[in-house]
Amino acid sequence: METANRIVAEILEGIKERVRPGVETLELNELAEEMCRRRKVQPAFKGYRGYPRSICISINEEVVHGIPGPRRLKEGDLVSLDFGVKYDGYYGDAAVTLPVGQVSDKARRLLEATEKSLYAGIAQLRVGNHVSDISHAVQTVVEEAGFSVIREFVGHGIGRSLHEDPQIPNFGPPGRGPWLQPGMTLAIEPMTAAGSWKVKILKDGWTAVTQDGSLAAHFEHSVALTENGVLILSRL
Ligand code: MF3
Ligand code: CO
Repeated sequence: METANRIVAEILEGIKERVRPGVETLELNELAEEMCRRRKVQPAFKGYRGYPRSICISINEEVVHGIPGPRRLKEGDLVSLDFGVKYDGYYGDAAVTLPVGQVSDKARRLLEATEKSLYAGIAQLRVGNHVSDISHAVQTVVEEAGFSVIREFVGHGIGRSLHEDPQIPNFGPPGRGPWLQPGMTLAIEPMTAAGSWKVKILKDGWTAVTQDGSLAAHFEHSVALTENGVLILSRL
């Protein structure tokens, strides 16, 4: 899991370096695939439930599962990159949102609150806590910043499959759900909106967008709870 997720982090780093106004999203997908080939790992998303590409690129009001294509990033866009691999039978999964050039103050605050909420969620990862302690911490940070958490998509266990139990919602009361235990590997992934949390799926069958057209953000790390504390696996 460490290796799989380190590779995810390296590839995301490579893609982030190419994010700039004018770059085609399909070109970023090709870069991701090329980096997978060089490292002899399998992209985790391609073919997953019929998903056609290797990375999800979601722009502005797109929340998750944007499909790379001929669209080009432009100055002021807020772009999220979500990427996973399978290495030696184990999965890695991570996501990051970044500004394309200069973005609005609101976009920057949304991005910062969402990343902060991810770390607040990770900080709840300890023996004696429940899964929903993560959920509650994420929701609290996001809502205190004046934003909302998406309800329709959740974090998840990760391991020999991309998506395993337990589900990890980004909202709800603390103290519910399974106990957190050493050996658990989880993908914690707050998805947020500047406006309402309601989403709809575009006709491509994948792209989730906010119903009100407000900006969205997404950060994700795969993490491990061990006897000796927490490892953030998908961070370089
Ligand atoms: N990172 C996403 C998740 O955690 C996976 C994208 S769904 C796929 O669920 F179909 F594109 F793979
Ligand atoms: Co995930």
